[in-house]
Amino acid sequence: MRLSLRFVLPLLLALGLLGYAMVPLVDRMILGWFMRDLDMRATLVANTARERVRDLVLAHERDQLLQYLSGLTEDERVFAVGFCPADGSAAVFTASMPNDLTCTRHRQGPPPPSRMVSSPSGPLMVSVRPLADNGVALGELVLVHDLSFIARRSAETRKYIFYLFVGLGFTIALITVIIAQLSWRGWVHGLRAVLRGEGLLRPAGTLDTPELRPIARDVRALIRDLETARRARDDDQMAWAPETLRAVLHDDLRGQEVIVVSNREPYIHVRENGLIRVSRPASGLVTALEPVMRACSGTWIAHGGGSADRDTVDPHDRLDVPPAPEVAAYRLRRVWLSEEQESGYYYGFANEGLWPLCHIAHVRPVFRTTDWEQYAKVNQVFADAVRDEARTDDPIVLVHDYHLALAPRMIREAMPAATIITFWHIPWPNPEAFTICPWREELLDGLLGSSILGFHTQFHCNNLVDTVERLIEARVDRELFSVTYKGAVTSVKRYPISVEWPSSVVATSGSVDCCRAEVRRRHGLPENQALGIGVDRLDYTKGIEERLRAVERLLETRPEWVGRFTFVQIGAPTRNRIEQYQQYDVRVRALAERLNERFAAPDRPPPVVLCVKHHQPEQVYEYYRAAEVCMVTSLHDGMNLVAKEFVSARDDERGVLILSQFTGASRELPEALIVNPYDTDQCATALHVALGMPAADQRARMRLMRSLVREFNVYRWAGRMLLDAAHMRRRDRVLERGA
Ligand code: F6P
Repeated sequence: MRLSLRFVLPLLLALGLLGYAMVPLVDRMILGWFMRDLDMRATLVANTARERVRDLVLAHERDQLLQYLSGLTEDERVFAVGFCPADGSAAVFTASMPNDLTCTRHRQGPPPPSRMVSSPSGPLMVSVRPLADNGVALGELVLVHDLSFIARRSAETRKYIFYLFVGLGFTIALITVIIAQLSWRGWVHGLRAVLRGEGLLRPAGTLDTPELRPIARDVRALIRDLETARRARDDDQMAWAPETLRAVLHDDLRGQEVIVVSNREPYIHVRENGLIRVSRPASGLVTALEPVMRACSGTWIAHGGGSADRDTVDPHDRLDVPPAPEVAAYRLRRVWLSEEQESGYYYGFANEGLWPLCHIAHVRPVFRTTDWEQYAKVNQVFADAVRDEARTDDPIVLVHDYHLALAPRMIREAMPAATIITFWHIPWPNPEAFTICPWREELLDGLLGSSILGFHTQFHCNNLVDTVERLIEARVDRELFSVTYKGAVTSVKRYPISVEWPSSVVATSGSVDCCRAEVRRRHGLPENQALGIGVDRLDYTKGIEERLRAVERLLETRPEWVGRFTFVQIGAPTRNRIEQYQQYDVRVRALAERLNERFAAPDRPPPVVLCVKHHQPEQVYEYYRAAEVCMVTSLHDGMNLVAKEFVSARDDERGVLILSQFTGASRELPEALIVNPYDTDQCATALHVALGMPAADQRARMRLMRSLVREFNVYRWAGRMLLDAAHMRRRDRVLERGA
C-alpha cells in the first residue's frame, strides 16, 4: 500500500499542477476562437446591412435607420449597433449602446476590425466596418457583441478540464499501480532465481525476466560485496566466545530453536561393577559441538549407545546435560537402535561403506543392500526425533556427519520451513571415487535437502559440487557455490572446525611442569626423557603405523635418541566389530611390541608406550602438556582436532607439532612441521628436528598457531554457520513478502 501511494501521490500532484497551468491557456484559446467567430459574424451582418443603411443614410432617414439598426440587435449575440457618419453629424446608436462608446473613441487612430472592451455590463467586442457610396466614405457601422457568454463557457470548460484531469489522474494511477505490482512480482521471481543461482534460464513453468539479464551480474556482485562486508564486520570485530554465540542467537536468530542431530552422543552412561559411570566419547565431533551446545542451549539428538543410557533418561528419553555436579546447559534426547539397526547402519553402511569411500586410506569400501536398508531406516528414526523435539515449525537443525546423509531430506519433508545445516566432518571424495557407491544418487538427494552443506575445506566443497554436477540433474552455480535441486537451493560452504578457546580443560589442568613430571612418573620414564605423543582412535586413517615406523627410523638413523626418547600413543578403541579395525589394532600392537623389543636394553626406557583405552579429556590434555612433540600423521582427515587441541593445551608456548599434509588442519597451521606420513624418512627427520628445536623457534611457531586457533575457534565455526542460517532466513522472508 505504501508503495502504491508513493506512485499515486506524485502522479496526482503533477497532474493537478498541469491542469492548473493549462486553465488560462485554454481560456485564452477559447476567447481567441470566439472573437474570430464574432468578427466574421460582424462582417456578415455589415455586408447584409450595408445597402439598406447606405440608402437610409443618403435619404437622411435617421428614425428609420435607428429602427433598422435596432432590428439587428434582436440577434442574441448582437448587443448594440450604431452608425457614425463621416461628416461628423450626430451618430445613430441603438438604445443598448454603452454610454462610454462614442464615435470619437473609435476614430482615435485606425480602428482595428474588432477589439475587446470592458464596460459596466461586462466584456464586449466592438467591430467597426466602413460604409461608402461610390468611393465616397459615408461613415462607419459599429457592431457591439456581448462577450459574457464566453465567460460562462470558459467557466464550464474549466470545470470539465478539472474533471478530465482528475479522471485521467486516477486512471493513470490505477494502471501504474497494477503494472508496478505485476512487474514487481516478476522482478522478485527473477531476482529469486538469480539469488538461487538459477541464472536467467527459464525453469519450467516460471516467467523469464529478460529485463533482469543486464543487472543479474551486478546483483550477484552486490550480494557478494554485502556478504564480504558482513563477513569482514564479523570476522574483524568479533572475538568469538560463548557470549558471542549467545548474542548471535539472541540478536540474529531472536533466540530461535536450535536442534543438533548426530550419531555420537556427548555423554555416555555405562554400568561398571553395578555402578553407573558417565564418560565423554573420543570424538572430534563431540569435542567441537559440546562447548557450542553449552553456549546456545537447545536440544541434541543422538544415539543412546551406553549400557546405562536407558537408566538415566526421563520417560521421554531426555536428560539435561552436562550431568551434575556441573550446571545443566542443554537437553540430550537419546534415540534407541536395535542390534540389527546399529549393525547395518553404523558398523555396516556408515563405517564399512562411507568411511573408507571418503578417506583415501586404501581400504576397500563394502556396500551391502541390507546395511543400506538399515541406514535409511535409522536416518528416518533420527528425522522423526527431530520432528518430535521441535517446538516450532521452522527450527534451525544442525545435522552432523556421514551417518545421517539421508536425514536432511527427511527433515525437509516433515518440516519444509526448517533451516537445515548439514556438516560433513570427513573428506568428500572426487566424483570417480564416489561413483562406486551403489546409492550415490540417494545420498546426494538426501544431503541436498539441506539449506547449507558444510565441509572443512574448499577442496571438499569443490569435490561435492563436482560430484553433484556429474551424477544428478541439478544446477550448479560456481560463483555463489550453490546447488539448485528439486526447486530448492543448497549453499555449499567451507567452515573449518576448531576447538574451544580458551580451553576449559586447560583451565583446570596442573602446570606444565606438574604434567611433565606426572606423565613420566606414570610410565616409569626418567625426568628428562624426551616425550612424543599421539592421540587417536585406533583407526586405519590415522596413520598410527606410519608414525611408529617413523619413530623406528629415527632410532635407526639417529641412535643418540635411543633410550632418550619415548613415544606415547594413546589409542581409543573404536568400531571394534569391524574386521578392518580389529586387524588394525593387532598390527599397531605388534608394531609397538616389535620396536620395543628391537631397542630394548636393561634399564633403558621403551621407545613406545601404547595405551589402548579410552581417556577422558583431562587425561589427554595432561599428555599434551607433558610432551615435547605431538605427532598427527593421518593418511586423510577432514580437519583433525588433535592438532588444534595440542596447540590450545600449550599455554607455555612450547612443544612442536608434526602434522600430516593430508589433514584439513595443515591448511591452517603451516607453522607445524608438515609431513607426508607415507614418507618414513621425512617423518623421522621431522621428529629429529622437533626434538632439537630451540625454545625460541618453538615459541615463535606455537604463538602463531595459538593466535590462529584463538581467533578461529569453535565458537566462530558454529557462529558462522548460524549467522549464515540467519542471513538465509532473513533473505527468504524478504523475498517471500515480495512474492
Ligand atoms: O571424523 C568423523 C567423526 O564423526 C568424528 O567427528 C569423530 O571423531 C569420529 O568420526 C567418531 O567416530 P565414532 O563415532 O564412530 O566413534
